[in-house]
Amino acid sequence: MATESNIPPELVTALRQARHVAVLTGAGVSAESGIPTFRDAQTGLWARYDPEDLATPEAFQRNPRLVWEWYAWRRQLVSGAAPNPGHLALARLERLVPRFTLITQNVDGLHHRAGSSAPIELHGNIMRVRCSAEGTVYEHWDEGAELPPPCPACGAPLRPDVVWFGEQLPSDALEQAWNAATRCDLFLSVGTSGLVEPAASLPRLAHAWGATLVVINLDVSDTVRERLFSLHGRSGVLLPALVSAAFPDAAA
Ligand code: OAD
Repeated sequence: MATESNIPPELVTALRQARHVAVLTGAGVSAESGIPTFRDAQTGLWARYDPEDLATPEAFQRNPRLVWEWYAWRRQLVSGAAPNPGHLALARLERLVPRFTLITQNVDGLHHRAGSSAPIELHGNIMRVRCSAEGTVYEHWDEGAELPPPCPACGAPLRPDVVWFGEQLPSDALEQAWNAATRCDLFLSVGTSGLVEPAASLPRLAHAWGATLVVINLDVSDTVRERLFSLHGRSGVLLPALVSAAFPDAAA
């Protein structure tokens, strides 16, 4: 297991010298904030549902109230959670390197709350909703008797402003992510299972375009190869350790 004390020195040098660092995060980054990852078994009321059967346009059409209530439960979890040392280390790293792009698959908004200035949210944000008919986005809405609440403008049901399975990602977010992957010199892939495209291709793309690729995950083994570092461990431990090792003089 990689620890604070055995981060590969070649990686520390690569991070210190990088001109443009791009980072892709997944649900694992928020696990230490107490938010279950997407593929963790669900607990309590929701144990009998598979998230992949709730996060689809078909599920919303079939049973909008069920899908709304599932997101309301997830929203409550997120509201009660706080950014962890992994989120905070990425916010710090942004201020220490010449150019920085943070791309996330998470819909929890914790990067923003940790101080990251402009995370690219590939899959949307659970704290916003939008009209299921005409797409207007709302940050405030009434959780009244009717669930999902109706759009104040047209009365169609509101839905979470997230990307569901089978839906297109926002094209501007995807384009920014693609540009960062092909232009950065160091790409960090953290806490993602890499199962969902197109996000899953970004680390490979960055590596193919010449970047040093760093993978931090609980399900990889420690490996160092040409421009590829895999670190087995928790992002809440390894990200602060990596940033401190590369920039020891910067205040935590
Ligand atoms: P997953 O739940 O698929 O994967 C989480 C990954 O984080 C796994 O590989 C874990 O090993 C790793 N992990 C867990 N805890 C960790 C920790 N403390 N430190 C480091 N790694 C840890 O989540 P995502 O890859 O984000 O999409 O899933 C991608 C997308 O699939 C989600 O955005 C969602 C889902 O379907 C949509 O809803 C469109």
